[in-house]
Amino acid sequence: MTTATVLRLRGGFGFDHLQLEQADLADPVGNEVLVQFRAASLNYRDLMVTLGHYNPKMELPRILGSDAAGQVLSVGPSVTAFSPGDRVASLFFQGWQSGEIDQSVGKSALGGSIDGVFATARILPETGLIKIPDYLSYEQAATLPCAGVTAWNGLVEKGKVHAGETVLILGTGGVSIIALQLAKAHGATVIVTSSSDEKLERARALGADQTINYRSTPEWDAEVLRLTEKRGVDHVVEVGGSGTLARSLNAVRQAGHVHLIGVLSEPGKGVDVLSVLRKSIYLNGVYVGSRSMFAGLNAALTANRIEPVIDKVFPLADARAAFEYLQSGSHFGKVVLAL
Ligand SMILES: NC(=O)c1ccc[n+]([C@@H]2O[C@H](COP(=O)([O-])OP(=O)(O)OC[C@H]3O[C@@H](n4cnc5c(N)ncnc54)[C@H](OP(=O)(O)O)[C@@H]3O)[C@@H](O)[C@H]2O)c1
Repeated sequence: MTTATVLRLRGGFGFDHLQLEQADLADPVGNEVLVQFRAASLNYRDLMVTLGHYNPKMELPRILGSDAAGQVLSVGPSVTAFSPGDRVASLFFQGWQSGEIDQSVGKSALGGSIDGVFATARILPETGLIKIPDYLSYEQAATLPCAGVTAWNGLVEKGKVHAGETVLILGTGGVSIIALQLAKAHGATVIVTSSSDEKLERARALGADQTINYRSTPEWDAEVLRLTEKRGVDHVVEVGGSGTLARSLNAVRQAGHVHLIGVLSEPGKGVDVLSVLRKSIYLNGVYVGSRSMFAGLNAALTANRIEPVIDKVFPLADARAAFEYLQSGSHFGKVVLAL
């Protein structure tokens, strides 16, 4: 028997309903793995879940969080993929191993449809875990299951980004910064937008070739067209949603890719469907990714020795402060919880 500390949302939505509780875990049976999680990372989705904006009908109480990394403590008798001591991360979708997404996948999302991993220990099926690269710390590995796999799925798996292409990345949050790192590792030229000149400096230090402050240059799509000599970019990492999509469609080249990932912006006016078909734009809806995509991401990170960018680490006991910090939008890259 193991006792874990877990972060539950209990009794309603909102920060006041975040509770640290103790949970007893039995020994793993069958294909189960008992993991001692050492670090977790916050995603914008966790904020939406907590505030009741993600799924207002979500059943409570619920252990939050989709992304964590730690060490295997013990395994059930039918487990073949892991042994005690292995370093592992959670899969965002416990039920998506490979291939295309299907209808069953959404029901297996940690920290949404099922209990998550903002917990010092949890039991998960072996199919819900993946080994992490040796050179990454637990904090770094904990940034990967949602943000890393999403950026990989959009830009690399489906987008096939390659050297010579230009990628436009909106903002400097968790998905955007790992997307910047992956795009550079694939030899692309990268344009990053941000509300902050200081964050744009940091993006340049990570390899961004061009930067645009979307506050001081609200018509940032026109600036992208100027920077690309009117051609437009090959890919847009679209984390803004309806408030930024029209400008993203303007900034992408003829037959370019817009990877639809996020919903961070205020609602916009809607999009010009004619421009999509006249430019033959590929709209790529991205919903995190599978275990095999995570494996591809791990291989690319390892080959390029990419270090995921962590802005700040909070102790689990200060989870509320971590959520408020994420909500403030002050971060660059990822916000992490030490478990
Ligand atoms: N589809 C999927 O599978 C999937 C997976 C992961 C995330 N998401 C979604 O993708 C989005 C990003 O997630 P995240 O976890 O990376 O969030 P995050 O770390 O909280 O990102 C916040 C940053 O986004 C930028 N931003 C906000 N409004 C913007 C706007 N109007 N234009 C450009 N940038 C803007 C800001 O960057 P600056 O401070 O630099 O301005 C802000 O700091 C969220 O909507 C999330 O729900 C979807």
